[in-house]
Amino acid sequence: MNREQAQARIKELTDLIEQHNYNYYVLNQPVISDYEFDKLLEELIALEKEFPEFLSPHSPSQRVGGQVTSEFRAVNHRYPMLSLGNTYSEGEVRDFANRVRKTLEEEPEYVCELKYDGVAISLLYENGVLVRAVTRGDGNRGDDVTVNVKTIRSIPLRLRGNYPAVFEIRGEIIMPRASFDRLNQEREEIGEPPFANPRNAAAGSLKLQDSAEVARRGLDCFLYYLMADELPLDNHYDTLQAARSWGFRISDYMARCRNLDEVFDFIHEWEKAREELPFDIDGVVIKVNSFKHQQILGYTAKSPRWAIAYKYKPESVSTWLFGITFQVGRTGTVTPVAELEPVFLSGTTVKRASLHNADIIKSLDIREGDFVFVEKGGEIIPKITGVDLSKRSPGAQPIPFITHCPECNTPLMRNPGEAAYYCPNDSGCPPQIKGRLEHFISRKAMNIESLGEGKIEVLYDYGLVRKVSDFYKLTYDNLIGLQKTYPATGDSLARTVSFREKTVENILKGIELSKQVPFPRVLYALGIRYVGETIASKLAHHYLSMDKLLKATFEELVMVDEIGEKIAQSLVQTLHRPDMLEIIEELRTAGVQLEITSVKPEKKGDILAGKTIVVSGDFGAPQRRKEIEELVTAYGGKLGSGVNSKTSFVVAGLNMGPAKKEKAIQLGIPVITEDEFLKMISEN
Ligand code: IVH
Repeated sequence: MNREQAQARIKELTDLIEQHNYNYYVLNQPVISDYEFDKLLEELIALEKEFPEFLSPHSPSQRVGGQVTSEFRAVNHRYPMLSLGNTYSEGEVRDFANRVRKTLEEEPEYVCELKYDGVAISLLYENGVLVRAVTRGDGNRGDDVTVNVKTIRSIPLRLRGNYPAVFEIRGEIIMPRASFDRLNQEREEIGEPPFANPRNAAAGSLKLQDSAEVARRGLDCFLYYLMADELPLDNHYDTLQAARSWGFRISDYMARCRNLDEVFDFIHEWEKAREELPFDIDGVVIKVNSFKHQQILGYTAKSPRWAIAYKYKPESVSTWLFGITFQVGRTGTVTPVAELEPVFLSGTTVKRASLHNADIIKSLDIREGDFVFVEKGGEIIPKITGVDLSKRSPGAQPIPFITHCPECNTPLMRNPGEAAYYCPNDSGCPPQIKGRLEHFISRKAMNIESLGEGKIEVLYDYGLVRKVSDFYKLTYDNLIGLQKTYPATGDSLARTVSFREKTVENILKGIELSKQVPFPRVLYALGIRYVGETIASKLAHHYLSMDKLLKATFEELVMVDEIGEKIAQSLVQTLHRPDMLEIIEELRTAGVQLEITSVKPEKKGDILAGKTIVVSGDFGAPQRRKEIEELVTAYGGKLGSGVNSKTSFVVAGLNMGPAKKEKAIQLGIPVITEDEFLKMISEN
């Protein structure tokens, strides 16, 4: 390709990618598959690398990040970033409306919007291109976080249509719950403290110095306010709809309300419905729609008089904490758990709540017999937020943290700089052994579903499995007729687990099928400390086989992208232990995948011939969706873009696009999981 051809193709790819982004984020109607999209982006990146003179700062390739910023530049806002008056009281919303009516001498039209719980951002567009993204800061001066904001795919880098030459648009950068859960899980796996809520995670991510990491975090953005010296329309609602046509992501969840009753309908509707949203909101924002009205109402020093935020109360109750129990996890970490007198909170009965670690107990200053406040805000997991001091008995003593493992009595240890105590007896402490076995068979690891529901406990109690490779030595004769009755505990009823013919056949079949599980998941299944799904996938794709990984030294490991010293040390220590080497050899003998098998779409079979398959959603690790798509073609199938009547089925990961899901349901097209898909191809 010569220079001219490259320049033309770069332009063509840029336009195409922007159109597909718009289809996906604004119209919610993708027309090509994620795989095809990634291919276009890859081609663009490769061409820009070869012909760097054609790389534009607005190229969609800038979204993958890679720039490292040592310090964010502070810049002045053109228009100050005001905040909103807010209230938890419906009465105050009425007072606000009365004031508005009195000033305007008429009932205005209102626009109700969701109050996104994230980080405010101001985006400056000049001649249709994003030139600057600035955080709120103190309202007058914020941080220039443009490099990071460019990685958010729902924020257009270039606009379409008839937009004003210069304007600022403001909105909220949020972290959807699915991204938040994945991030926190990864953080726990590598020993980093989890973020308390999606808002903190979004704020932390926006200030990261490595924009490639920001790109990975899955941030999103909703825009809700435009500012310019002159705007083409005369009201807020129509302006936002116009902004949508320029390529901005504007929420569908807003309403024009003719009176206060309609405003309260919106508030009440979302108070419940917000639980179903894939992101957190903390209230509703009520704005006077007409710009003329807004101008008459004006501003106070801090906020507009034409808008108010009504905030939902996080539900909180006080209950008796009758004790703290201590749980030992698969990696030996000891977690204190508050045992509570059951209380009803936001739709569920809460009996227990994690206290996380000794430092948290200390900072809450929990004493014996205390009443504590339990809260369930946007988060699903209840949280203890404080002690009800009015109910504390005089002389109540602090609750000491245990010094020995509650399961095997080994003295507990704590690593310098870490909050958690752990039991170092990993080879002899029962919950650690059972935890490792359970982790091995879990869904994202080897996915041996037929071993779930307490069967591991039976196998452990009979002494049939101690290490993960023991699963592959089980035979029909070993298993048939095993039976155990477990008494009721605080969490579960008494139960009997018995291994009849069908159960045993299913178990053996499940174990056999697990031999097809790809190497990245096998590596994750080994349960090496700090090696979560993403890290396992990174390592597997870097080294390609267990043998090569085993040869890697600490120095080599830390050179691998995203592998820090802590992970490298854990790998070197764990993988070379004689018991681990024995496990690896036994897995190899059993036929478990210890290397990456060809990822190129070479022909493997034709059981999917004539079928059109759509792969959608998030499959845990970034490379995983690509692998699934490659399997589709390797087995003779065709990859579909959007769901339509020609689609044979959809392989769905987490967070499948809502438009695709709805379409599939409408057309009665089967939606299957990754594991069902793998079973489908391996059984044939
Ligand atoms: S309008 C001049 N609309 O809430 C008024 N703000 O507590 C501009 N927020 O500073 C703000 N959702 O960061 C507006 N739909 C929405 C919002 C929203 C969330 C944030 C924003 C604001 C804060 C006020």
